[in-house]
Amino acid sequence: MPKRTPLIAGNWKMYKTALEAGETAATLAQRVADVKTTEVMIAPPFTALEAVYAVVQGTNIALGAQNMHWESEGAYTGEISPSMIKAVGCRYVIIGHSERRQYFGETDQDVNRKIVSTIKAGMFPVMCIGETEEQRESDETFSVLDKQVKIGLEGLFSDDLINLVVAYEPVWAIGTGKTASSDQAQEVHRFLRTRLAEQFDADFAATIRILYGGSVKPANIAELMAMEDIDGALVGGASLDAETFSQIVRYK
Ligand code: PGA
Repeated sequence: MPKRTPLIAGNWKMYKTALEAGETAATLAQRVADVKTTEVMIAPPFTALEAVYAVVQGTNIALGAQNMHWESEGAYTGEISPSMIKAVGCRYVIIGHSERRQYFGETDQDVNRKIVSTIKAGMFPVMCIGETEEQRESDETFSVLDKQVKIGLEGLFSDDLINLVVAYEPVWAIGTGKTASSDQAQEVHRFLRTRLAEQFDADFAATIRILYGGSVKPANIAELMAMEDIDGALVGGASLDAETFSQIVRYK
């Protein structure tokens, strides 16, 4: 079985105007232009998608959105549809980020609807899952992840999910400077791959990329990437600066 192609993804959250995002993307594109064996993705805010696409189109950087609505159109004030983000060049969509779950009430059912729509629109979902500190301390990590995967992927078959990316992001490690140790992360990634093999099949599970997210930085990326079941990273804070993010992309 060939090794999965690593994916290093930057989630720019609610940072950068269109102009700033375009500038950062241009610098990043120069610094990672020669990277061939790792895929790179950046997810700027909606308002910067078009400007960033103009810069990364034709380069080795893919564009992602941070969220979307599951309906293709309708009276949903303030929402953005799958076809809208696809039309501005998005290949990936981050779905169910813990900040969406925590501050905007997104449920596993919402995540499921959005994953179905992402696939229907021909884009690649990055499904975010992860336990809170409280859940980890009360030994609920695996049961929480089990439920997030089960409901998030309900009604889908392995043929639908060939472009699925899973991002394991322990909530206690996001933006806190606390990273899961590489062994802690590997343990969860292995659990998730086994879990996918049970819900679908082993061949499918072996091809799915499982990213780690939560305070990834140049100093810890190599150790994380050395783990057998860690196939990349979803990077928040450290992706905002082109130089720092390019060091993460060039971890090898
Ligand atoms: P962080 O965020 O790298 O700033 O911890 C990760 C994420 O939220 O995806």
